[in-house]
Amino acid sequence: MPLPRVFVTRQIPAAGLDKVRAACQAEVWSEQLPPDRSTLLDKVRGCDGLLSLLTERIDAAVMDAAGPQLKVISNFAVGFNNIDVAEATRRGIRVGNTPGVLTEATADIAFALLIAAARRLVESVDYARARQWKTWEPLGHIGLDLQGKTLGIVGMGRIGFALAKRCRGGWDMPVLYTGRTANVEAEEQLGARRVDLDTLLAESDFVSVHTVLSDATRHLFNAATFRKMKPTAVFINTARGPIHHEGDLIEALRERVIFAAGLDVTDPEPPDFENPLLQLPNCIVAPHIGSATVSSRNGMAEIAADNLLAGLAGQPLRHCVNP
Ligand code: DGY
Repeated sequence: MPLPRVFVTRQIPAAGLDKVRAACQAEVWSEQLPPDRSTLLDKVRGCDGLLSLLTERIDAAVMDAAGPQLKVISNFAVGFNNIDVAEATRRGIRVGNTPGVLTEATADIAFALLIAAARRLVESVDYARARQWKTWEPLGHIGLDLQGKTLGIVGMGRIGFALAKRCRGGWDMPVLYTGRTANVEAEEQLGARRVDLDTLLAESDFVSVHTVLSDATRHLFNAATFRKMKPTAVFINTARGPIHHEGDLIEALRERVIFAAGLDVTDPEPPDFENPLLQLPNCIVAPHIGSATVSSRNGMAEIAADNLLAGLAGQPLRHCVNP
């Protein structure tokens, strides 16, 4: 029996890649940048499986190019908004993702952005590096307090809950959250209170986004939403860039409608070098590093490989996102 043919759209950690190579006839895209669209369409031709990243749009055209033997699309990410899951499901193609293993690492980055934005840390470090530090300044670099402030979590899933635990435990923050369903654990363990979005925006000092990107959440944070937040509020997004409207966020930061933002995601990624978000003193932008730890990336690679191999063998995936 010939080994199944798969295309892996980037080098991933050996913890997963070695398994894929051992069980498949695998072509691995080894460039730093993703394959362009026409290369992707070409490379998937005749494949039984595809191991993709969030940088690739996997839609009907890709599935057509692959051919009817395509059995599985395994995404190296917990998010899967880059894949047309409905179309895959219609064709009987299984789609896998990698939840769980990046929860704590991503919550850590949200926590880091939150404290750095509140205390103007990056701006202050830039100041020191620019040789502007002349003396200790009683009125300089004044940031926000964290102790006892209110945290608003938009989407109390695994990562939102992990951030809420840090903020509740570290700074005794009251926690508000929005979500389609109640998170009983968060309510019992942290005293979290489920509220509507307007209440969360009005009452929170820190608003952190942990929801999926969907038609319902695209541009959920826009000029109107930012205006409902406190002028001292900090906005954190470690989920997906299009959940905030970039132009409106730039305006809100410039006009001091809100105090600051900490972003691990932008729209598009990467942003243009001229994007004001990269220049504004009250905005911190990290290059989508939420899951960038050894254990998270190894865990993601293992799950992505297991999902791929299970799908090729017609077995249930470890984590399947088809409805
Ligand atoms: C994900 O997994 O969806 C993150 O955005 C990248 O690790």
